[in-house]
Amino acid sequence: VVSIEEARQEFSPTGIYCDTASLGLAARSTVHAVEQALQAWHRGEVAPPQYDQYVDRSRELYASLTHTTPDRVAVGSQVSVFSDVVARSLRPGDEVLVAREDFTSVLFPFLAQEPRGVVVRSVPLDDLIGEINDRTALVAVSAVQSADGRVLDLESVATVAEQHGAATYLDTTQAIGWYKVEADRFTFTICHAYKWLCSPRGSAFFTVAPDALTTLGNHNSGWYGGADVWTSIYGPPLRLAQEARRLDLSPAWLSWVGTAAALELIAAIGVDVIRAHDVSLANELREAVGLPAGNSAIVWISLPDVDAAVIQSTLAAAEVRCAIRAGGVRIAFHHYNTSEDAATVAAALSALM
Ligand SMILES: Cc1ncc(COP(=O)(O)O)c(C=O)c1O
Repeated sequence: VVSIEEARQEFSPTGIYCDTASLGLAARSTVHAVEQALQAWHRGEVAPPQYDQYVDRSRELYASLTHTTPDRVAVGSQVSVFSDVVARSLRPGDEVLVAREDFTSVLFPFLAQEPRGVVVRSVPLDDLIGEINDRTALVAVSAVQSADGRVLDLESVATVAEQHGAATYLDTTQAIGWYKVEADRFTFTICHAYKWLCSPRGSAFFTVAPDALTTLGNHNSGWYGGADVWTSIYGPPLRLAQEARRLDLSPAWLSWVGTAAALELIAAIGVDVIRAHDVSLANELREAVGLPAGNSAIVWISLPDVDAAVIQSTLAAAEVRCAIRAGGVRIAFHHYNTSEDAATVAAALSALM
């Protein structure tokens, strides 16, 4: 077990880093692991199968973080590719319910199926649960919104979808690492690990319920999805694994070296501890700028009358790194942030509010 204080020693950001919702920071242990792998590659000391241990370990750690089992987890490199897998499995006439504010990797692959007769119904996120009905074939939505950090009521989505016989596809990219998600409550989930899991870009996890895996059919279908990976590299017949890893995409090796190290640290700190820490910093900022307490690690503050360039220069002067989204500032707190960070951000933003 690693405490938040011990974990913080693993990071040394320049200035105040509050942009994990764009890009999580690499821990020293992650940088070290990738540097070692780069050196081994440079010296010609590594053969491709040696990278499998990082993919396997990442899959195990991810399964444990999301309260599922590794046989339900497939790996790839992007969210959109797995959204596309789910979207292509829909039939003409099937209705997909989405949130109109959502990140486009959860929207475009479904919209791209409209010419085939798939119907995409987009509603405001706040209305989503109430809009699930017997015509809904699939609810596709993010657990936490990228633009403003709003947290979906996961239990209600899962329960209401179940009541109406609808499948669910949950994008957990802005959630896992600080927010508890039980993957088995959803038909499908997807997470890109480069934000709250502090991994290099290029490692994503897809979970699928066993029944859905059967009806999904074959997708991706590369050698890495083979029943036995290293004897699946030449010639017919098709011989894919039975488990979710039949959907695996061949790994971007160095990303997985970093991902395994990054997930070890998150697992050692514990998601519940990280959540309490992150949300409490977010609420310190909210209180300081006169907003009611919230339940997210992300604070979005609307600044409709302030020019983006002015916001940017004010934050830069305070050495605060965060993002400008949807006509406001998006401040994200993770385990490497402190109360001093929240106070500095509050002071800088007060000048603009
Ligand atoms: C909710 C969400 N999903 C997915 C992504 C990234 O998508 P992709 O893996 O397709 O690049 C982001 C990045 O901001 C995101 O916020």
